Amino acid sequence: MSENIRVAIDGPSGAGKSTLARSVAARLNFLYVDTGAIYRTIGYAVWRKGIDPRDRSAVVAVLPDLEICLTYGTDGLQHMELNGMDVTAEIRLPEVSRYASLVSAYPEVRAYLLEMQRQLARENSVVMDGRDIGTVVLPDAEVKVFLTASDEERAHRRVRQNADRSIGSIDFDEVLADLRRRDEHDSSRATSPLKPADDAVRLDSTGRYIEDVIDEIVELARERAAR
Ligand code: DC
Repeated sequence: MSENIRVAIDGPSGAGKSTLARSVAARLNFLYVDTGAIYRTIGYAVWRKGIDPRDRSAVVAVLPDLEICLTYGTDGLQHMELNGMDVTAEIRLPEVSRYASLVSAYPEVRAYLLEMQRQLARENSVVMDGRDIGTVVLPDAEVKVFLTASDEERAHRRVRQNADRSIGSIDFDEVLADLRRRDEHDSSRATSPLKPADDAVRLDSTGRYIEDVIDEIVELARERAAR
């Protein structure tokens, strides 16, 4: 039997998706795919070229020039390559977050990346995190999770992350406002907005130990895989 299992984890930024998805993938020996990093790579390319991310036709025109590759280092971590250059660190810049959110609203950008994401899930059992994995990218995923946390907790986590990485703001109010702005943008766009799939398990990670949430999803995936 070579049926691949697909675990889709969606939710707003800072809900803990990537920590959760990475750990679940490691426990199940599945491939972890961070789809936000792929959108960030396009955001980064647009930023580097000095293109206004609000100029849809300019953004769309640049897509054929982009060669985006997802590779896995010996550390097992996902690396992003843009036209042969490793941009894994650069895509985390706060300015790139804003560009990624803006360019990801364009249907052409989403269509451009759709097949790449589906291909990964055809070739591997995956834990994929993003905004529209359970609704659009992998609507038949065996496990779908919609992970949330309170705005304040998400902002606290982001402040800690920014401090650890020494990038971005560590001002709580500024980070909170930025998160809310991006959520609003990601949820209100016409194409593939951030929203739970009807059949998603909804989990609120506020005040919960991440290990407990990981156990819950691993259990769910094992149950589905055994069917
Ligand atoms: O998860 P993240 O913050 O790294 O994602 C960066 C941006 O990419 C985010 O603002 C929304 C967008 N995104 C998306 O539209 N669809 C996805 N599946 C993943 C991310």
